[in-house]
Amino acid sequence: MKHNVLLIRPTIQPNGVAYLEENSHVCYAPNGQKETLIRYINENQTEAVITRSEQIDKEIMDACTSLKVIGQHGVGLDNIDVQEATRHKIKVLNVPDGNYISVAEHTMAFILALSRSLRINDCSVRKDAWYSRENRYTMEVCQKNLLIVGLGRIGRAVAKRAKAFGMQVMAYDGFVTKEDMEKIGVEKIDRLEEGLKRADFVTLHVPLTKETHCMMSAEQFRSMKDSAYIINMGRGPVIDEEALVQALENNEIAGAGLDVLSVEPPRADHPLFSMDQVIFTPHIGGDTREAKMRTSELLSKSIIDVLDGQEVYNWVNKF
Ligand SMILES: NC(=O)c1ccc[n+]([C@@H]2O[C@H](COP(=O)([O-])OP(=O)(O)OC[C@H]3O[C@@H](n4cnc5c(N)ncnc54)[C@H](O)[C@@H]3O)[C@@H](O)[C@H]2O)c1
Repeated sequence: MKHNVLLIRPTIQPNGVAYLEENSHVCYAPNGQKETLIRYINENQTEAVITRSEQIDKEIMDACTSLKVIGQHGVGLDNIDVQEATRHKIKVLNVPDGNYISVAEHTMAFILALSRSLRINDCSVRKDAWYSRENRYTMEVCQKNLLIVGLGRIGRAVAKRAKAFGMQVMAYDGFVTKEDMEKIGVEKIDRLEEGLKRADFVTLHVPLTKETHCMMSAEQFRSMKDSAYIINMGRGPVIDEEALVQALENNEIAGAGLDVLSVEPPRADHPLFSMDQVIFTPHIGGDTREAKMRTSELLSKSIIDVLDGQEVYNWVNKF
């Protein structure tokens, strides 16, 4: 008998949908609101649900006894109460290797865009301010210090690319040894402040946890050089946004590249929007065509495998 899988509109990529439709009975929830999900899961006796950023919490798990698997279409699991899933014996799967190359490339795009003030230069051409270039100094990234906070899959892919640009790469990650870092030509930093003091660019690639929540706050921004840039590719709340606004207003740092914000989508009058030295993207670091297709394929296959009782490499809450 085919298993019941619930997809939330807008769904995953067509290759993943096609695989699921071939191998299971697929139902579609029109949106990811809690009441909608509870209703659709129960009405369809759903065994597996695929989420992207939709919250799957205790209330849903308590209300939906048919649920056996939650599939995260991506890496970060902060939208799923994983502890509660374990208590309910619900398997949580993610796709750790679907989009790390895309996120690393996006990080490099931010580093290069910030170092050459691409946003400000683009505006000056459009606004008939060609010669404003005379008052602007941009910089090479070669020989500059990059601090990677969180040297996991994405952090390592960034290190490799930054080294190809001639950058000196340091990393702060208590879970990776000095020896492992040395093997890939990265200097281990034991205290975050030590790395922040030396860095010309700081890029965040940690998951959102109790420890990483607001790990970049007023004190950390004060430790940075006033010529340095911060990039956030992890999760918005890793940065204390009020402290970032203050740091930029006080010229404690030079600028920021933000793919993620503490509230997404942000409110239209967000104080960072008036700052020319900040560039934004709408949480698309991992959203290239290649990464989306890869993620959809890997997740849909592993969902069917796990429902069929097979071992899968991406089951994160082993019980
Ligand atoms: N912007 C995007 O589109 C996008 C896409 C994919 C992932 N992400 C985010 O990037 C994060 C990292 O992804 P990954 O695949 O590299 O994960 P990963 O698990 O491979 O790496 C995370 C690293 O962070 C380290 N870490 C954890 N807590 C830390 C702490 N307190 N201090 C320092 N280091 C710490 C871990 O040791 C690990 O090496 C994800 O959790 C997700 O939130 C964002």
